[in-house]
Amino acid sequence: MKIGLFADAHYSSQALTCGTRRNSLSLEKLKAAYAFFAKQGCGLCVSLGDLIDKNGSHDEDVKRLKEVRDVITSSGIETVCLMGNHDAFTFGREEYYRIFGGCEPVGRTIDGLQLIFADACYFGNGERYTPAGGDWKDCFVPDEGAFLASLGESETPAAVFLHHNIDPALPERYRPKNADALFRGINESGLVKAVFQGHYHPGARTIYGDVLYVTLPAVCEHENAYYVFDTKEFTVNPSV
Ligand SMILES: [Fe+2]
Repeated sequence: MKIGLFADAHYSSQALTCGTRRNSLSLEKLKAAYAFFAKQGCGLCVSLGDLIDKNGSHDEDVKRLKEVRDVITSSGIETVCLMGNHDAFTFGREEYYRIFGGCEPVGRTIDGLQLIFADACYFGNGERYTPAGGDWKDCFVPDEGAFLASLGESETPAAVFLHHNIDPALPERYRPKNADALFRGINESGLVKAVFQGHYHPGARTIYGDVLYVTLPAVCEHENAYYVFDTKEFTVNPSV
Protein backbone atom coordinates (compact mmCIF):
# COMPACT_ATOMS: atom_id res chain seq x y z
CA MET A 1 0.00 0.00 0.00
CA LYS A 2 1.05 3.56 -0.58
CA ILE A 3 0.68 5.85 2.44
CA GLY A 4 0.56 9.63 2.03
CA LEU A 5 2.41 11.58 4.72
CA PHE A 6 2.48 15.22 5.70
CA ALA A 7 3.17 17.32 8.81
CA ASP A 8 2.85 20.74 10.36
CA ALA A 9 0.29 22.56 8.25
CA HIS A 10 -0.30 24.97 11.18
CA TYR A 11 -3.38 26.18 9.31
CA SER A 12 -4.90 29.42 10.63
CA SER A 13 -6.28 32.73 9.41
CA GLN A 14 -2.90 34.39 9.86
CA ALA A 15 -0.76 35.08 6.81
CA LEU A 16 2.59 34.83 8.57
CA THR A 17 3.75 33.74 12.03
CA CYS A 18 7.18 33.12 13.53
CA GLY A 19 8.73 34.86 10.53
CA THR A 20 8.50 31.85 8.21
CA ARG A 21 5.13 30.09 8.70
CA ARG A 22 2.64 30.85 5.94
CA ASN A 23 -0.31 29.56 7.97
CA SER A 24 -3.21 30.69 5.80
CA LEU A 25 -1.77 29.06 2.67
CA SER A 26 -1.80 25.58 4.18
CA LEU A 27 -5.38 24.72 3.26
CA GLU A 28 -4.62 25.01 -0.46
CA LYS A 29 -1.41 23.04 0.07
CA LEU A 30 -3.38 20.25 1.74
CA LYS A 31 -5.79 20.17 -1.20
CA ALA A 32 -2.78 19.78 -3.50
CA ALA A 33 -1.34 17.09 -1.23
CA TYR A 34 -4.55 15.04 -1.32
CA ALA A 35 -4.83 15.43 -5.10
CA PHE A 36 -1.30 14.06 -5.33
CA PHE A 37 -2.05 11.21 -2.90
CA ALA A 38 -5.14 10.27 -4.92
CA LYS A 39 -3.14 10.28 -8.16
CA GLN A 40 -0.54 8.06 -6.51
CA GLY A 41 -3.23 5.62 -5.41
CA CYS A 42 -2.61 6.02 -1.68
CA GLY A 43 -4.80 3.75 0.44
CA LEU A 44 -4.09 5.60 3.69
CA CYS A 45 -2.78 9.00 4.77
CA VAL A 46 -1.12 9.98 8.02
CA SER A 47 -1.09 13.57 9.27
CA LEU A 48 1.92 13.80 11.56
CA GLY A 49 0.39 16.56 13.67
CA ASP A 50 0.10 20.32 14.10
CA LEU A 51 -2.65 20.59 11.52
CA ILE A 52 -3.91 23.76 13.14
CA ASP A 53 -2.66 26.93 14.82
CA LYS A 54 -4.48 29.28 17.16
CA ASN A 55 -6.68 31.96 15.58
CA GLY A 56 -7.60 34.16 18.53
CA SER A 57 -10.97 32.60 19.36
CA HIS A 58 -12.08 29.03 19.84
CA ASP A 59 -14.95 29.44 17.40
CA GLU A 60 -12.47 30.44 14.73
CA ASP A 61 -10.20 27.50 15.67
CA VAL A 62 -13.16 25.12 15.21
CA LYS A 63 -14.04 26.73 11.88
CA ARG A 64 -10.48 26.29 10.58
CA LEU A 65 -10.23 22.70 11.80
CA LYS A 66 -13.51 21.91 10.03
CA GLU A 67 -12.09 23.35 6.82
CA VAL A 68 -9.13 20.98 7.12
CA ARG A 69 -11.47 18.12 7.99
CA ASP A 70 -13.50 18.78 4.85
CA VAL A 71 -10.38 18.55 2.68
CA ILE A 72 -9.42 15.28 4.33
CA THR A 73 -12.84 13.63 4.34
CA SER A 74 -13.75 14.72 0.81
CA SER A 75 -10.59 13.01 -0.46
CA GLY A 76 -12.14 9.64 0.30
CA ILE A 77 -8.73 8.40 1.53
CA GLU A 78 -8.76 7.07 5.07
CA THR A 79 -6.60 9.35 7.18
CA VAL A 80 -5.03 8.99 10.60
CA CYS A 81 -4.52 12.35 12.30
CA LEU A 82 -1.89 12.40 15.03
CA MET A 83 -2.12 15.33 17.40
CA GLY A 84 0.81 17.71 17.64
CA ASN A 85 1.55 20.19 20.40
CA HIS A 86 -0.29 23.03 18.62
CA ASP A 87 -3.36 20.81 18.13
CA ALA A 88 -3.30 19.71 21.76
CA PHE A 89 -2.80 23.26 23.07
CA THR A 90 -5.85 24.31 21.00
CA PHE A 91 -8.26 21.35 21.33
CA GLY A 92 -8.89 18.66 23.87
CA ARG A 93 -8.36 15.20 22.40
CA GLU A 94 -12.05 14.31 22.48
CA GLU A 95 -13.18 17.52 20.76
CA TYR A 96 -10.45 17.23 18.12
CA TYR A 97 -11.50 13.75 17.01
CA ARG A 98 -15.20 14.52 17.40
CA ILE A 99 -14.80 17.30 14.84
CA PHE A 100 -13.13 14.84 12.45
CA GLY A 101 -15.73 12.18 13.13
CA GLY A 102 -12.90 9.66 13.38
CA CYS A 103 -9.26 9.76 12.21
CA GLU A 104 -7.99 8.57 15.64
CA PRO A 105 -4.67 6.71 15.51
CA VAL A 106 -5.46 3.01 15.65
CA GLY A 107 -2.61 0.59 15.03
CA ARG A 108 -2.94 -1.92 12.22
CA THR A 109 -0.88 -4.24 10.03
CA ILE A 110 -0.59 -3.53 6.31
CA ASP A 111 1.42 -5.65 3.88
CA GLY A 112 3.00 -7.42 6.86
CA LEU A 113 4.09 -4.13 8.42
CA GLN A 114 2.76 -3.04 11.83
CA LEU A 115 1.86 0.63 11.94
CA ILE A 116 2.43 1.92 15.48
CA PHE A 117 1.24 5.40 16.46
CA ALA A 118 2.74 7.18 19.46
CA ASP A 119 1.73 10.40 21.21
CA ALA A 120 4.10 12.72 23.08
CA CYS A 121 1.56 15.48 23.80
CA TYR A 122 2.12 15.01 27.53
CA PHE A 123 4.20 16.91 30.05
CA GLY A 124 7.09 15.13 31.76
CA ASN A 125 4.86 14.64 34.83
CA GLY A 126 2.52 12.49 32.72
CA GLU A 127 -0.29 15.06 32.41
CA ARG A 128 -1.96 15.45 29.03
CA TYR A 129 -1.59 18.75 27.17
CA THR A 130 -4.76 20.86 27.30
CA PRO A 131 -5.90 24.12 25.65
CA ALA A 132 -4.63 25.84 28.82
CA GLY A 133 -1.23 25.55 27.14
CA GLY A 134 2.22 25.11 28.61
CA ASP A 135 5.83 24.63 27.62
CA TRP A 136 5.96 22.88 24.23
CA LYS A 137 9.50 21.70 24.98
CA ASP A 138 8.19 19.67 27.93
CA CYS A 139 7.01 16.58 26.03
CA PHE A 140 6.87 12.93 26.94
CA VAL A 141 5.50 9.56 25.78
CA PRO A 142 3.73 8.37 28.95
CA ASP A 143 3.16 4.76 27.94
CA GLU A 144 6.79 4.08 27.13
CA GLY A 145 6.73 0.61 28.69
CA ALA A 146 3.60 -0.40 26.77
CA PHE A 147 4.98 1.09 23.60
CA LEU A 148 8.26 -0.82 23.89
CA ALA A 149 6.41 -3.99 24.90
CA SER A 150 4.23 -3.71 21.80
CA LEU A 151 7.37 -3.92 19.72
CA GLY A 152 8.22 -7.24 21.30
CA GLU A 153 4.77 -8.79 21.05
CA SER A 154 5.17 -10.02 17.52
CA GLU A 155 7.81 -10.80 14.98
CA THR A 156 6.16 -8.45 12.51
CA PRO A 157 8.30 -5.61 11.14
CA ALA A 158 7.02 -2.20 12.19
CA ALA A 159 6.90 1.47 11.30
CA VAL A 160 6.40 4.08 14.03
CA PHE A 161 4.59 7.39 13.54
CA LEU A 162 4.61 10.31 15.98
CA HIS A 163 4.60 14.09 15.91
CA HIS A 164 7.67 14.63 18.07
CA ASN A 165 11.24 13.60 17.38
CA ILE A 166 13.03 10.52 18.58
CA ASP A 167 15.92 10.97 16.12
CA PRO A 168 18.90 12.03 18.28
CA ALA A 169 20.33 14.03 15.37
CA LEU A 170 17.67 16.66 16.00
CA PRO A 171 17.85 19.38 18.70
CA GLU A 172 16.97 18.18 22.21
CA ARG A 173 14.12 20.68 22.65
CA TYR A 174 12.13 18.83 19.96
CA ARG A 175 12.57 15.44 21.61
CA PRO A 176 10.39 13.87 24.33
CA LYS A 177 12.01 13.56 27.77
CA ASN A 178 12.23 9.80 27.25
CA ALA A 179 13.35 9.95 23.62
CA ASP A 180 16.68 8.24 24.36
CA ALA A 181 14.91 5.22 25.92
CA LEU A 182 12.48 5.08 22.99
CA PHE A 183 15.35 5.34 20.53
CA ARG A 184 17.18 2.45 22.19
CA GLY A 185 14.02 0.32 22.31
CA ILE A 186 13.22 0.98 18.68
CA ASN A 187 16.71 0.33 17.41
CA GLU A 188 17.26 -2.75 19.57
CA SER A 189 13.88 -4.28 18.69
CA GLY A 190 15.16 -5.45 15.32
CA LEU A 191 11.57 -4.98 14.11
CA VAL A 192 11.19 -1.26 13.49
CA LYS A 193 12.17 -0.37 9.94
CA ALA A 194 11.13 3.27 9.86
CA VAL A 195 10.13 6.13 12.16
CA PHE A 196 8.10 9.00 10.69
CA GLN A 197 8.06 12.31 12.57
CA GLY A 198 6.99 15.95 12.17
CA HIS A 199 7.55 18.90 14.56
CA TYR A 200 11.06 19.85 13.37
CA HIS A 201 10.12 22.10 10.46
CA PRO A 202 13.27 21.90 8.32
CA GLY A 203 12.78 18.12 8.05
CA ALA A 204 15.52 15.47 8.26
CA ARG A 205 16.42 11.99 7.11
CA THR A 206 18.78 9.83 9.17
CA ILE A 207 19.61 6.12 9.15
CA TYR A 208 20.75 4.21 12.25
CA GLY A 209 21.65 0.63 11.40
CA ASP A 210 18.55 -0.73 9.69
CA VAL A 211 16.19 1.99 10.92
CA LEU A 212 15.25 4.94 8.73
CA TYR A 213 14.14 8.12 10.54
CA VAL A 214 12.24 10.54 8.32
CA THR A 215 11.17 13.95 9.61
CA LEU A 216 8.67 15.56 7.27
CA PRO A 217 9.41 19.19 6.35
CA ALA A 218 6.59 21.48 7.51
CA VAL A 219 3.78 22.14 5.04
CA CYS A 220 3.48 25.71 6.36
CA GLU A 221 7.09 26.51 5.49
CA HIS A 222 7.68 24.51 2.32
CA GLU A 223 6.15 23.79 -1.06
CA ASN A 224 5.18 20.22 -2.01
CA ALA A 225 6.08 18.99 1.48
CA TYR A 226 4.26 15.70 1.25
CA TYR A 227 5.69 12.23 0.89
CA VAL A 228 4.53 8.82 -0.22
CA PHE A 229 5.68 5.76 1.71
CA ASP A 230 5.34 2.49 -0.21
CA THR A 231 5.02 -0.33 2.33
CA LYS A 232 5.81 -3.04 -0.23
CA GLU A 233 8.84 -1.51 -1.89
CA PHE A 234 9.81 0.27 1.30
CA THR A 235 10.54 3.56 -0.37
CA VAL A 236 9.83 7.03 1.00
CA ASN A 237 9.69 9.67 -1.66
CA PRO A 238 8.91 13.37 -1.59
CA SER A 239 6.29 14.60 -4.03
CA VAL A 240 8.92 16.24 -6.23
FE1 LIG B 1 5.03 20.55 16.80
